[in-house]
Amino acid sequence: MQIASEIVGPRGRVVGIDLDETPPFDRENVIALQGDLSQAGVETRILEALGGPADVVLSDAAPKLTGVRATDRAREEALLEALEALAPTLLRPGGTFVAKLLDAPESQAFVTRLRPRFASVKVTKSQATRKGSSEKYLIARDFRAVRDAL
Ligand SMILES: C[S@@+](CC[C@H](N)C(=O)[O-])C[C@H]1O[C@@H](n2cnc3c(N)ncnc32)[C@H](O)[C@@H]1O
Repeated sequence: MQIASEIVGPRGRVVGIDLDETPPFDRENVIALQGDLSQAGVETRILEALGGPADVVLSDAAPKLTGVRATDRAREEALLEALEALAPTLLRPGGTFVAKLLDAPESQAFVTRLRPRFASVKVTKSQATRKGSSEKYLIARDFRAVRDAL
């Protein structure tokens, strides 16, 4: 949120949401909400705080991992499903969606489902990601409204 607030500048706005309270930081163009992105109605809170649809939706949300493979994969899948429902309700047509993914079949299925909704979809690794991590990033550009995607 700090980096995004520098990129959008004083005329832009950044709205973030996390289950945990975000420690306060002094940026006038940032609103930090506390909440669950999978909860019904969360899009209304975010859109109200933004004042309209977003140019970019960024997600570095990650579930709390337990080390139990089946549980962790189910949590990751639930989070991706919540993001899949939320991002299109927040983005303006032509907007960009970036999301952190763990390398798993659930993430591949998520990417496949998103493809028709964007003109360009790619999955990449960040240079900042620690070696051995399965973390990847979806970069989906040029969001198509539902009618255009059909
Ligand atoms: C890798 S941390 C990133 C936190 C923060 N953006 C940062 O850069 O320090 C992942 C975050 O995802 C949040 N998270 C996980 N599931 C969530 C959900 N359903 N709704 C909102 N936030 C969630 C966690 O609370 C955690 O703070």
